[in-house]
Amino acid sequence: MKRLDGKIALITGAARGIGLAFAKAYVREGAKVAIADIDIARARQSAGGIGEAAMAVEMDVTQQDSIERAVAETVDRFGRIDILINNAALFTAAPIVEIGRTDYQRVFDINVAGTLFTLQAVARHMIERGDGGKIINMASQAGRRGEPLVAVYCATKAAVISLTQSAGLDLIRHGINVNAIAPGVVDGEHWDGVDAFFAKYEGKAPGQKKKEVGAAVPYGRMGTAQDLTGMAIFLASDEADYIVAQTYNVDGGQWMS
Ligand SMILES: NC(=O)c1ccc[n+]([C@@H]2O[C@H](COP(=O)([O-])OP(=O)(O)OC[C@H]3O[C@@H](n4cnc5c(N)ncnc54)[C@H](O)[C@@H]3O)[C@@H](O)[C@H]2O)c1
Repeated sequence: MKRLDGKIALITGAARGIGLAFAKAYVREGAKVAIADIDIARARQSAGGIGEAAMAVEMDVTQQDSIERAVAETVDRFGRIDILINNAALFTAAPIVEIGRTDYQRVFDINVAGTLFTLQAVARHMIERGDGGKIINMASQAGRRGEPLVAVYCATKAAVISLTQSAGLDLIRHGINVNAIAPGVVDGEHWDGVDAFFAKYEGKAPGQKKKEVGAAVPYGRMGTAQDLTGMAIFLASDEADYIVAQTYNVDGGQWMS
């Protein structure tokens, strides 16, 4: 028996990176997954690569009608939603004195409002169905403390940790477990973008920041999306029923809390 046999998962931002690794891992564990992303072409390609157990859903987590459509499409096709991973996010970096309102708003809209209102839409569906569910929010070590140049992204991830606590405490009476994963530094397209920001603001050569952060991880290297899948499967499984409102660091030893 696989750990997620018969479960239905909606994963936002799953066209690539960590979300896609979660989708593949969930399918290996017996689940069906909706790969929801603003980049529908890439979502279709990724879902096609997985096969019958995956569907691509166009979704912009900043738009309420898009959130509701994505939830409805998933329920229409697969019958219900047992698991949500709020994974879509945007990174940004700038010195404090250069942060612009447009950038600030966009990143908060995706990382914080997107997480809250997607969680709300799926929680309403789960409450109506009446047999609980699992919600996993993607936080970050960036949410554990501030960083020069990364004020806005860090603040959004601190907000995700806080929302996980409040939603977790509110929704457990409906049998819905809300928890979060705080990765450290995970190699992939996201970190290619982060590296480019540091090249710009710290005058580093392309790739240099990645090497530095990897060397600073106690485990000895940057993480991979694969390193996170064990926690994502566990938190979505029945084995995590008694875990409520927590954020777990999966970061090679970078942060302790
Ligand atoms: N990569 C890391 O080092 C790292 C570290 C800590 C936390 N995280 C978190 O893990 C999660 C996944 O990270 P990743 O590295 O795979 O990122 P990524 O940038 O590779 O993927 C993000 C996905 O979100 C999608 N997306 C962007 N805006 C959207 C919107 N408005 N609506 C729907 N989808 C949208 C993108 O199209 C993309 O497919 C994020 O929440 C990120 O903050 C990543």
